[in-house]
Amino acid sequence: MGLKHQTCRTSSSSANLLSTRFSTILTTLAFLFTSIFMFISSLGRQHQPLSFAGQTSYIGDLRDARFPWNKLCFGPTSERLKLAVFSKTWPAGAAPGGMERHASTLYHALAVRGHEIHVFTVPSDRKQHSDIHDGNLHVYFAANDHGSVNCSLAFEIFNKIDRNEAFDYVHTESVSLPHWRAKMVPNLAVTWHGIWYEIMHSKLFEALFSNPNGIRFFSSYKQHICISNSASEVLVNIYQLPQRNVHVILNGVDNTKFVQDPEVGARFRRRYGISVERSNVVMGVAGRLVRDKGHPLLYESFSLITKRYPGVCLLVAGAGPWGRRYAELGPNVKVLGALEPSELSEFYNAIDVFVNPTLRPQGLDLTLIEAMHCGKPVLTPNYPSIVGTVVISDEYGYTFSPNVKSLVEALEMVITDGPHVLRKKGTACKEYAISMFTAAKMALAYERFFLCMKNNIYCQYPLPTDC
Ligand SMILES: *[C@@H]1O[C@H](CO)[C@@H](O)[C@H](O)[C@H]1NC(C)=O
Repeated sequence: MGLKHQTCRTSSSSANLLSTRFSTILTTLAFLFTSIFMFISSLGRQHQPLSFAGQTSYIGDLRDARFPWNKLCFGPTSERLKLAVFSKTWPAGAAPGGMERHASTLYHALAVRGHEIHVFTVPSDRKQHSDIHDGNLHVYFAANDHGSVNCSLAFEIFNKIDRNEAFDYVHTESVSLPHWRAKMVPNLAVTWHGIWYEIMHSKLFEALFSNPNGIRFFSSYKQHICISNSASEVLVNIYQLPQRNVHVILNGVDNTKFVQDPEVGARFRRRYGISVERSNVVMGVAGRLVRDKGHPLLYESFSLITKRYPGVCLLVAGAGPWGRRYAELGPNVKVLGALEPSELSEFYNAIDVFVNPTLRPQGLDLTLIEAMHCGKPVLTPNYPSIVGTVVISDEYGYTFSPNVKSLVEALEMVITDGPHVLRKKGTACKEYAISMFTAAKMALAYERFFLCMKNNIYCQYPLPTDC
């Protein structure tokens, strides 16, 4: 979900010269940040004032809410917003997860609700596409030679539309709108899709270097939306951003696309020639098969597990260098390659438990939520962003520390529990996901956020129109 490239590059020569020194301090700082991050996050969880599942009886100003806005029930509005969005990419074709898929889901939903949406972005496949004008949704592709967003060009189009009739609010998905540009946009909110990755890959180090007295990176953005509770705690406690400017809105997925259907799952198993005994567990992993998604860890752990439990099966959906390695593990592993979006839901239905071995404490992985909507429990690392927001109790699955020993123990627990217990946990996952992680809940929360930014009246909760 993180950014592979800094979207709008600068070619500051001093930054290039100092890059070697950056990499040296990078390691030290990375360690430092991790320690602080883990420490603060564990502190923060103890002070969580409200339970997570179910509705809350909150009364007051939404900007003071210290829990995800998804928990609230927002009613309809007749107000129409005009919003500008900067996104690193816009999905062309199928790939599981990803920030661009989040943006597409959210803005399609807001456009359908009658808001005028203008997105400045590039196609995710980096090929030539014409702009999209679909009802209230307008997508402008402004690419440079490398296929990433040309900020100057994007701003030219932005300014033209803004002059015609001013935007109510501007939203950037992560650093799609870089901080030096963000400073010039007062009515701006940023959504942080995993601040860990932003810290590592943003221009933060450059800012630290040129101005050791202040980290101005985050404060270039006026309003901050976090996709996990732990990320908001870091922004408030470590970066000391004003509490009132930091909000939590969790990601949601289209729960009409990701639905529980055992028959579809059985058909998927037959199509790929997967036959397992009733008592054996079918695990599944999906996404890009690259190193930092944790595949070396799963590969090693699973190869140990199959020696003790020869009946277990792992389905691997996705493409990447680790696909070949998994295939070496023999008949216990089935590498399916990249799946069509329609097949993804079928894949989740075909498994008993979804494994997410990621090594990045990067926020909310959409695949976790998709699997939960399909009624599957999850096995994931115990990062604060995950245990504080998604797998908030073992009712929903299993967590492990990101090392082989811990993952092997967790896998053993999954196998010992067996398909019956997994189904029970899966049902709990589905209910929790529907109460928190739907595209509709997310869209309503963002809608109310932008309304509140435009007009303070909307910051009150509940309004007479709310449910
Ligand atoms: C970016 O867009 C500007 C304005 O249209 C243009 O002058 C510039 O050449 C473009 N840069 C790249 C790298 O494509």
